[in-house]
Amino acid sequence: MELSSSSTTTGLLIINVFLLFLFTSATVNSGSNLPKCDINLLEFPLNLEYFEAEYFLFGSMGRGLDSIRPDLTGGGPPPIGAKKANLSSLINDIITQFAYQEVGHLRAIKKMVKGFPRPLLNLSSESFAKVMNDAFGIPLSPPFDPYANDINYLISCYVIPYVGLTGYVGANPKLQSPLSRKLVAGLLGVESGQDAVIRTLLYERAKEKVTPYEMTLAEFTDKISGLRNKLGKNGVKDEGLVVSIDEGAEKKIKGNVLAGDEDSLAYGRTPREILRIVYGSGAEDVPGGFYPNGADGAIAKGYLKRRR
Ligand SMILES: *[C@@H]1O[C@H](CO)[C@@H](O)[C@H](O)[C@H]1NC(C)=O
Ligand SMILES: *[C@@H]1O[C@H](CO)[C@@H](O)[C@H](O)[C@H]1NC(C)=O
Repeated sequence: MELSSSSTTTGLLIINVFLLFLFTSATVNSGSNLPKCDINLLEFPLNLEYFEAEYFLFGSMGRGLDSIRPDLTGGGPPPIGAKKANLSSLINDIITQFAYQEVGHLRAIKKMVKGFPRPLLNLSSESFAKVMNDAFGIPLSPPFDPYANDINYLISCYVIPYVGLTGYVGANPKLQSPLSRKLVAGLLGVESGQDAVIRTLLYERAKEKVTPYEMTLAEFTDKISGLRNKLGKNGVKDEGLVVSIDEGAEKKIKGNVLAGDEDSLAYGRTPREILRIVYGSGAEDVPGGFYPNGADGAIAKGYLKRRR
């Protein structure tokens, strides 16, 4: 009797410990079960998601994460120079939707991995003006102002979200866990949708001049894509809205409302290529541009450390 009762107790104890183990492993960040490599690859895009969330929130509503979801900032510094853009009600409505989607993306990533606080972001007009000057190889006069009107804001939206999209395409085959791949597929789907909406809105007016400049909207996209290809240093992974027939789908058409490779598959970029672009420096270990202090996370930090 004694023996059997104590073995029952031991049995129960073992079951309890087992249940406790199951329970804790299911409630802590599922990221703790992910391979280190997955964690790093899932944390990296937070850099871009923070950018997009702040840029869309401020552009459409004039306030950012500190007002909308302060818990997601992790205490990182507020962005520099972000403000409400002068948008029509249609574009403002679309950008507000994108803004809230980015809030969801930040939350989804942070549910899987610990992540890091919002990095310092330079979202000032001057920061975008510099990208345009670099893209055209001459200073635009007056300097490009992303917040001035619908067209300028949409052009500025062409600058970064697409880079995030190529990052998800690049990361997916490197991820080991199906949970990581599920998250990245979900992020990629909506980011691609945003890219398609932005490109379609721009495509409608591709042949119009961007006032007060002499260049058309198509030329702006071509120059921005050209700059990204140059900074990324890894061939053509970026295409404007109108391309030479050789770059169009099946080499049959110049209109290029969506970018894709020779099989019309989305281009992928590595974190290293992405850092070269978003720093505007062409070097993954030379921060600047939209990230004055550099990006965060093990991957970006690893490159920055190499420099020191
Ligand atoms: C933001 O970017 C602009 C343009 O590159 C630069 O002039 C300005 O100093 C930057 N601000 C900070 C705080 O880094
Ligand atoms: C806002 O944009 C509209 C049209 O896009 C333009 O006519 C107007 O001048 C802009 N307002 C300011 C303050 O820039």
